Amino acid sequence: MQEAIILVGGKGTRLRPLTNHTPKPLLSVAGSSFIRHQIAKLMDAGVGHVVFATSYLAGLFEEEFRDFTRDLEISYAVEEVPLGTGGAIRNAGRLLRGPADAPVLILNGDILSGLDLRDVLQRHEAREADVTLHLTRVSDPRAFGLVPTDEAGRVLSFLEKPKTAEECITDQVNAGCYVFRRSVLDSIPTGREVSVEQETFPELVAQGKRVFGHTTDDYWRDLGTPLAFVHGSADLVTGKATSPLVERPAEALIHPTAAIAPTARITGGSTIGPRAVIGPHAVVDRSIIGEGVTVAEGAQIHDSVVDHDASIGSASLLREAVVGCHAHVGAENELPAQLRLSCGIRIPAQGVRVSGTAAACAAVH
Ligand code: GDD
Ligand code: MG
Repeated sequence: MQEAIILVGGKGTRLRPLTNHTPKPLLSVAGSSFIRHQIAKLMDAGVGHVVFATSYLAGLFEEEFRDFTRDLEISYAVEEVPLGTGGAIRNAGRLLRGPADAPVLILNGDILSGLDLRDVLQRHEAREADVTLHLTRVSDPRAFGLVPTDEAGRVLSFLEKPKTAEECITDQVNAGCYVFRRSVLDSIPTGREVSVEQETFPELVAQGKRVFGHTTDDYWRDLGTPLAFVHGSADLVTGKATSPLVERPAEALIHPTAAIAPTARITGGSTIGPRAVIGPHAVVDRSIIGEGVTVAEGAQIHDSVVDHDASIGSASLLREAVVGCHAHVGAENELPAQLRLSCGIRIPAQGVRVSGTAAACAAVH
């Protein structure tokens, strides 16, 4: 039986405040928690047993899958203190059941990709590799692990998050999906924090282990930042990215209990959650609107996430914003791009404006 580990213990700090109460993999994209998309993909690839390597808000994963009845066994390897990516893999490895030479699939819990998992497993076996890393090419590699390979695909070195331009010797980066021979995974040290990127991969390469890269140009996105997160969700809705849980491409995914005014425009792969209310002439473009959110008349929301039970006042404009749950943006605000509003915060009507069209100053003079 094919087994897999998903690393889901990170705090998701770049996605705060969305991750204040919800771990990144449990945030909703295209109508389902992200981890459910990953699970569906793993099941399609024939995986029968998944171990979640949890730490931050660990109990919420067990809650999410309490009623899961599909044909997949789920185990939980909980880290009381985070063990780092390598320590998490080693710790989760205790719960695997396959033999020492069995190939184990390992996924970062925040990667949306079109990678064919059966294909990467087959290549791993054909090369008799110790480890196979999925690699992708990006325009700016500084936020990733750099992985140059030779013509045969053998990994030459691994440099996590290069700091200088000289260090950026390739645009080929670690895509956050690996196949490990189980015995190699079991050789990671226990009982302390270990980074698979900073310690394990460089060490395996230095030891001459058979570490190969599998480079593809499939769809690939790390959903760890707010903009990547909304764009990943929109790509799933429009069909640019695929998931077994998204049946057919659409301009928007609107929950049947949401109330959308006939003159509102919901575009660009936006998702509208249960019981959300979108008022007349409002525009929601390439955004995620959570459960119970109210968007008033004429408000415009672009490339943003509005978490559950928040409200956006009439004629307000949001771009690349993250609005925490229960927050309230009053009428006629124009928020600067990339603003994050904490859960429950309130901005009064006409409180914030970026452009110069000042409102009347009635109260002060
Ligand atoms: N269980 C557990 N314990 N999981 C962890 C821990 C830990 O201590 N630390 C991180 N994780 C999980 C996160 O939840 C996430 O799913 C995954 O490990 C990777 O962590 P990120 O914080 O998302 O790392 P990154 O995006 O900066 O970099 C990683 O991914 C890039 C690809 O997107 C690295 O693997 C890079 O080399 C890679 O290029
Ligand atoms: Mg990441």
